[in-house]
Amino acid sequence: MTSSRKILVTSALPYANGPIHLGHMLEYIQTDIWVRFQRAQGHQAYFIWADDTHGTPIMLHAQKRGISPEQLIAEMDAEHQRDFQDFGLSYDNFGSTHSASNQRLVELIWTRLEAANHIEKRTIKQFFDTDRGMFLPDRFIKGTCPKCKTPDQYGDSCENCGATYSPTELIDPHSAVSGTTPVMKDSEHYFFKLADFTDMLQSWISNAPLQDEVRNKLQEWFADGLQSWDISRDEPYFGFVIPGSTDKYFYVWLDAPVGYMASFADFCERQPELDFANWWEPGSDAELYHFIGKDIVYFHALFWPAILQGANFRTPTAVFAHGFLTVNGAKMSKSRGTFIMARTYLEHLHPDYLRYYFAARLGPGMGDIDLSLDDFQQRVNSDLVGKLVNIASRCSGFIHKLNDGRLADELPEMEMYQAYLRQQPAIAAAFEQRNFQSAMRQIMALADQANQYLAEHQPWKLAKQENQQAAAVAICTQGINLFRILITWLAPVIPLTAAQAGRFLNCSLDNWQALEQPLLAHALEPFRPLLKRIEPSQVEAVINASAESLNSDQQSNEESPDQVGEPTITIDDFKKVELRVARIVDASHVDGADKLLQLTLDIGNQQRNVFAGIKSHYEPQQLIGRLTVMVANLQPRKMRFGLSEGMVLAAGGDQGGPYLLCPDSGAQPGDRVT
Ligand code: 2FM
Ligand code: ZN
Repeated sequence: MTSSRKILVTSALPYANGPIHLGHMLEYIQTDIWVRFQRAQGHQAYFIWADDTHGTPIMLHAQKRGISPEQLIAEMDAEHQRDFQDFGLSYDNFGSTHSASNQRLVELIWTRLEAANHIEKRTIKQFFDTDRGMFLPDRFIKGTCPKCKTPDQYGDSCENCGATYSPTELIDPHSAVSGTTPVMKDSEHYFFKLADFTDMLQSWISNAPLQDEVRNKLQEWFADGLQSWDISRDEPYFGFVIPGSTDKYFYVWLDAPVGYMASFADFCERQPELDFANWWEPGSDAELYHFIGKDIVYFHALFWPAILQGANFRTPTAVFAHGFLTVNGAKMSKSRGTFIMARTYLEHLHPDYLRYYFAARLGPGMGDIDLSLDDFQQRVNSDLVGKLVNIASRCSGFIHKLNDGRLADELPEMEMYQAYLRQQPAIAAAFEQRNFQSAMRQIMALADQANQYLAEHQPWKLAKQENQQAAAVAICTQGINLFRILITWLAPVIPLTAAQAGRFLNCSLDNWQALEQPLLAHALEPFRPLLKRIEPSQVEAVINASAESLNSDQQSNEESPDQVGEPTITIDDFKKVELRVARIVDASHVDGADKLLQLTLDIGNQQRNVFAGIKSHYEPQQLIGRLTVMVANLQPRKMRFGLSEGMVLAAGGDQGGPYLLCPDSGAQPGDRVT
């Protein structure tokens, strides 16, 4: 028996700003499997996390709903935790970053960083919304992309061409909060001097057991040079006031990871035998792991270790980054019904199905994980129902019928049982390295062997012969014991099914060490089917419900640009767009423009001047005389080259374009497009 480790594990904290979807669940399930596995090895492992409650989106969301941020947080906490419980997450504490313990720790960290001269003040210029009296975060400024000229892009990056820029580079910037044009305004901010920690971070990165992809990414950032980090925000803001000021707040990303510590501190309050300092002070013998998405590595592998070190706390043992979830090979999409909320899934499908499928797809790396819905059904039905549960259901009836529910006194194939146990170190190593897909493969190969054993020995035939009934019981005892090994190994992955199996087997399945002793001369409880097959109609129901809930889901998040997904419009919104057939009566190049052509469009009763980003595909001459479709009631926009009085419609994607949309012949300039 190896000595017991002290392990503290976290998942990234979900924003208290909207519902949990399957993309979130991928990480939480990955974390939960790993923690459950560690506990089953006899280690002292805790899963600690919280809701991430501060920041502008949450403040605006609450305002829009006419409730206080505290009310919003309380609502979200209940909703999130209901989802987590129903998915079988075995976390030890779920706190909130808006807590007294978090405030106390954030202030302590701040005081220590300041005393050690790791904070500097600097005046910066930022967009300010005079209508709402607030500075605007980059994601709350919209405008036309300075590179490709696509309108309605966020202040930090363009969704069309992928360019990143500063909001001041946007063409026609406007506030996403009020719609007004923001002004530039000075403000004094506090910065954390990350470069003070260059050597410390280099050594942390070299020594921590990080994934290669993470280490490489970090080295790239190093090569670019470590910049000071702006950790303050101006009022109005929902967060903690910076001590010594009245109108400056800690940036949400400063207090969020401190939430890991605060949630653990809250947990220690309830567990007197746990000493917070023992887990968080330098030299702690506890291991600390953060499971995160690949998009937040910077925060967790640079800022966070540096902040901890600067404030005289221990640093993380490692961060484990995973890729994003795709569904049916593509980004989750509301219109396709694949943007699936945790609750929608739970209304139609068993949580262990998804937990198993994610485990079967998750490796130790950072690659994206695809939930292919056909493969999901097929894999779950074949592995869990066809292979695993089948072993127990084939054997249990005979044990009850022929031996009063009692297992035989010995195993007919002890060597086979031992051979299974000899696989345990390899399976445990795969779990330890988060190579769950490898663990699942090994376990399912052994499930195949167990089924083969039963198929060869046919206890159902022996059971019919008077003098062979003891042999049938022995074979089924073997089968049940092999099942017990498999379900014990799978318990971290499918805990709800394992709990039910534990009741049937009349023994606990939460310690792998216990498998050394087979179950012999042991009374079983009656068998109840553990898992049913997934029916295609259940998956269809999830997709239909996800597509149906399109509008309602969007409402709760709409002012949060941090939310992923495709925003929708109502039919009334669409009716506001006046589409008209237009004849291109003139077309020409625009001096100094890479992508634009200038078009003169005839829409029957008037002519319009429009700048269109179609130069890459068309020569002006070939356009003259053609019909196309334009948005006729678009507010005219002043561009660098002149006034654009509308927009023509063109199609395009990764494979090519833009292709101008043209009506069939017969359409007349000015016709309405409906
Ligand atoms: O990216 C996010 O969803 C953040 N709410 C994660 C925070 S993790 C930690 F730092 F608290
Ligand atoms: Zn762009």
